[in-house]
Amino acid sequence: MRAWVLAAAVAATVGSAGLAFAQGNVVTERRAGFREMGGHMEAIAAVVQSRGDQRQIAARVDQMLPFYQSLPNRVPAASLTPPLPQGTQDGQTRALAAIEANRADFGTRNQNMIAALGALKTAAEAGNVTPDLLRTTGGTCGACHQQYRAR
Ligand code: HEC
Repeated sequence: MRAWVLAAAVAATVGSAGLAFAQGNVVTERRAGFREMGGHMEAIAAVVQSRGDQRQIAARVDQMLPFYQSLPNRVPAASLTPPLPQGTQDGQTRALAAIEANRADFGTRNQNMIAALGALKTAAEAGNVTPDLLRTTGGTCGACHQQYRAR
């Protein structure tokens, strides 16, 4: 009997630690992914500014798309704030619980992002990316941040 209770307690502890760890990874990987997106956008802006070869932009868009295609799966309710502490330190997040309450709208804003990246890629393949088009693309990032990312 005692051994059974002990075994159950150990299993419960391991179980919850495992969950906390998995949850931490969701947030860490999500934030690292977004930082990569920011890096891609900066590099793309540099290509446009220096009038570089815009095929580089198309290649970067190809690297960006899988992240947004997977984004709806990277925001489980338990990885949002609240319940997680809000902030930019390790283990904190700025992804708002409003995402959970507005899944359809979050998905629409994410689809808008995927469409905007598609348009950016098409323009890049023709060498037609302008600063204006980049601002529009960046505005699509901001349209989601405004609703679903804490400041
Ligand atoms: C559909 C919603 C959505 C779209 C579209 C979106 N973001 Fe975000 N972004 C978020 C959310 C939510 C967070 C907060 C993530 C967290 O703290 O866990 C975030 C966080 C970030 C961060 C901070 C990462 C960190 O260090 O914590 C950067 C940088 C970022 N996004 C860049 C971008 C760029 C660049 C684009 C457009 C190319 C973009 N995002 C498009 C929702 C979005």
